Amino acid sequence: MKQLVDPKKIDYIISNHAEPDHSGSLAKFHKEEAPQAEIIATERGQKILEKYYGEMPITTTKEMPEVKLGGKTLSFVAVPMAHWPDSMVSYIPEDKLLLSNDAFGQHIASTARFNDEIEQSLLWHEAEAYYANILMPLRSAVGRAVKALDGVSIEVIAPSHGVIWRKDLGDILTKYGQWIEGYTVPKVVITYDTMWKSTKDIAYAMAEGIASEGVKCRVYCLTGNHRSDVMTDILEAKAVFVGSPTLNNHVYPSVAEFLAYMRGLKPMNKIGAGFGSYGWAGGATRFIEEQMKLAGIELIEADLDFAYKPTEEEWQKAYDFGVMVAKKVKE
Ligand SMILES: Cc1cc2nc3c(=O)[nH]c(=O)nc-3n(C[C@H](O)[C@H](O)[C@H](O)COP(=O)(O)O)c2cc1C
Repeated sequence: MKQLVDPKKIDYIISNHAEPDHSGSLAKFHKEEAPQAEIIATERGQKILEKYYGEMPITTTKEMPEVKLGGKTLSFVAVPMAHWPDSMVSYIPEDKLLLSNDAFGQHIASTARFNDEIEQSLLWHEAEAYYANILMPLRSAVGRAVKALDGVSIEVIAPSHGVIWRKDLGDILTKYGQWIEGYTVPKVVITYDTMWKSTKDIAYAMAEGIASEGVKCRVYCLTGNHRSDVMTDILEAKAVFVGSPTLNNHVYPSVAEFLAYMRGLKPMNKIGAGFGSYGWAGGATRFIEEQMKLAGIELIEADLDFAYKPTEEEWQKAYDFGVMVAKKVKE
């Protein structure tokens, strides 16, 4: 910070968001380096900042909805729940610059500063991962925030995470519009875990059936793949299948964790089903389907719950089911 500006010359510190990854050094920096600076936050932001860091001199955006710096104006727009209740964005009309807070962010740490300076597949994967894992359950609030930008002249979007969008802004705005509406492509994601590989065999039988129809299918074992990578792939998938062995009358723990995560994120416009392997009484597949329903996924009849090791007929049944799913997602 000191390489850019003498802290004693800072007049204002704008807190767009009180979450500690945005505000962690605010209290210390203000107290030790820039006590003269006026901190500006929404009223909710003020409450959250004080809960984290104790009382601080904060001017709210209600008291000061914009700041004129001489040649540049900072206008503040509250976007509640476009991550947390306090979230706001700041806009500088003279530069057509939107400081968009979490929206349009990516978890990229790079020496590149702008979207045209970074490898494009990495950029888009990270933008997708960020939306799927952080913003997806907040889509109504994010949608309201994006709508509020209608008619606002923007040439640069600088989110609080990752690189700054300055080239082809329409691309990321269109993508956000699609994700908020629940856009899907003919793609299937299968995720599972296994102890003795029977559930894995069922997963790959389905995947082979799906691939035989030319439909893209990704298979993730939940041992070795992070739940957030699976959710990133689910964002635009039309169908999702989750499999587990029955372990002590219940679902396998990694699958339970994934289901809890997906239930909170509530992906839109998906069909899906559970599948699995059991020994005697089963239970995992039933639990999976209950949780998928609670995640908002439309269940389709699968009947892929097999005792011990799938027989050849059962393998074929899973393959045929995959073929049927592929035809359905191509419709
Ligand atoms: C520790 C352990 C606990 C199990 N508990 C149950 C159970 O409660 N009910 C059941 O039907 N099968 C149970 N089974 C049997 C497994 O569900 C069965 O072996 C299944 O085929 C495993 O699938 P996988 O090959 O995908 O791991 C258990 C197996 C193990 C190893």
